Amino acid sequence: MDKREILSEQPVTPEKVTALIKNMIDSNELMLFMKGNSIQPMCGFSARVVAIFDELGLDCKVFNVLADPLIREGIKKYSNWPTIPQVYYKQEFIGGCDIITEMYQSGMTKNGIKSGLYVSDCVSFMAEMPAECVDLAVTSPPYDDLRDYNGYSFDFANIAQGLFKAIKKGGIVVWVVGDRINGGRSLTSFRQGLYFQEIGFDIHDVMIYQKKNTPFMRSNAYTNCYEFMFVLSKGKPKTFNPLKEKTVRSGFEMVVHNKKADGINKKTLKELKKEKTRTNIWSYAVGFGGTTSDKIAFAHPAVFPEKLVEDHILSWSNPGDLVFDPMCGSGTTCKIAMLTQRQYLGVDISEEYINIAKQRLKNAENEKMGGLFCAGKGRIYKDGTEEKIQTGFNPNSVGLLDGENYLMNAYHYISERDTLK
Ligand SMILES: C[S@@+](CC[C@H](N)C(=O)[O-])C[C@H]1O[C@@H](n2cnc3c(N)ncnc32)[C@H](O)[C@@H]1O
Repeated sequence: MDKREILSEQPVTPEKVTALIKNMIDSNELMLFMKGNSIQPMCGFSARVVAIFDELGLDCKVFNVLADPLIREGIKKYSNWPTIPQVYYKQEFIGGCDIITEMYQSGMTKNGIKSGLYVSDCVSFMAEMPAECVDLAVTSPPYDDLRDYNGYSFDFANIAQGLFKAIKKGGIVVWVVGDRINGGRSLTSFRQGLYFQEIGFDIHDVMIYQKKNTPFMRSNAYTNCYEFMFVLSKGKPKTFNPLKEKTVRSGFEMVVHNKKADGINKKTLKELKKEKTRTNIWSYAVGFGGTTSDKIAFAHPAVFPEKLVEDHILSWSNPGDLVFDPMCGSGTTCKIAMLTQRQYLGVDISEEYINIAKQRLKNAENEKMGGLFCAGKGRIYKDGTEEKIQTGFNPNSVGLLDGENYLMNAYHYISERDTLK
């Protein structure tokens, strides 16, 4: 059942049409008149609008005009607009599929921010941003003076304050940072953590990012294999989707449950769970194939692992949320946010790095398309293999990929292929 669909409870008569339409528009902030419903759209244009709203995490109510010819014609007259779908927001007519697509492509998010990648000093960028618009920031600053990022300076205090302003109540900042270790640990990470606390963040957790492969051996100390991931929250976190891992043992076992002072162990039969919430030490392989398989990313000197970013994004945000990286370098946070159906905003002071980020995102978007998707037929890959879909039309798969063009391509592809057979 489509929870968003409004079903007519009374028989629609010509006299009541306008009042019914007006009532739907007045009672719902975002109202979509479409063909089909949001589970099973019956035209590509309607499917695309639903998919865009889903991608942005917007709640809308829908009315299936195919269920009622009077409303189907009535809404066209009411809006003075000849086609379906039609969107109303706060009682104002917005337009049809093309207009919604245009707004989406121009980067509007549900926070009213233009998502995308920007060349800017993040301090001045954040000063211009509305307060409390970001759900999650995943970022990594320049570490001490370890690397030269095209010679740009780093103003920690103002960046921390900008982040505090930009993040929503209940939002999270993941600050991935290591210390200079040669000549004694700098402990810059600790100082930064304390400063975050001073300006109002809760130190929700200090997690460890462990590197599985560590190329830099030290002659007089143990090889350093970790960095910190400060998880800072503005008040109580509003989202936590705990990641799970397999337990070593599962199933039924006799388990000690009550060891008394007499030393006698009592055992009872208990079911051991198959999975448990992970610990706060996360390990990742680094380097090519570990950090990322995007060769182009390594033109940046300090890319963090895609998997690390993905794990944080899944943990602390939901689809449609805005994920921000004020020092996005090669764009890892933005790429993963895009692939996990979040909105993204990336800023870096270096144009060279932003160009890398843009290219990575473009490549990822192309890869995401994978094969050609065709309504009723499934996904068709370039090598000709097909993946059937179970239940007809999947609006999400279509909308994310510029649905209409994609469908047209799919039909062309199929007919061309069939002709060649
Ligand atoms: C550790 S790197 C981030 C790398 C990124 N996480 C990735 O995966 O590619 C730090 C970045 O901060 C940028 N940066 C330094 N100061 C900045 C500032 N004031 N505003 C914006 N970016 C800045 C540098 O250009 C560099 O790309």
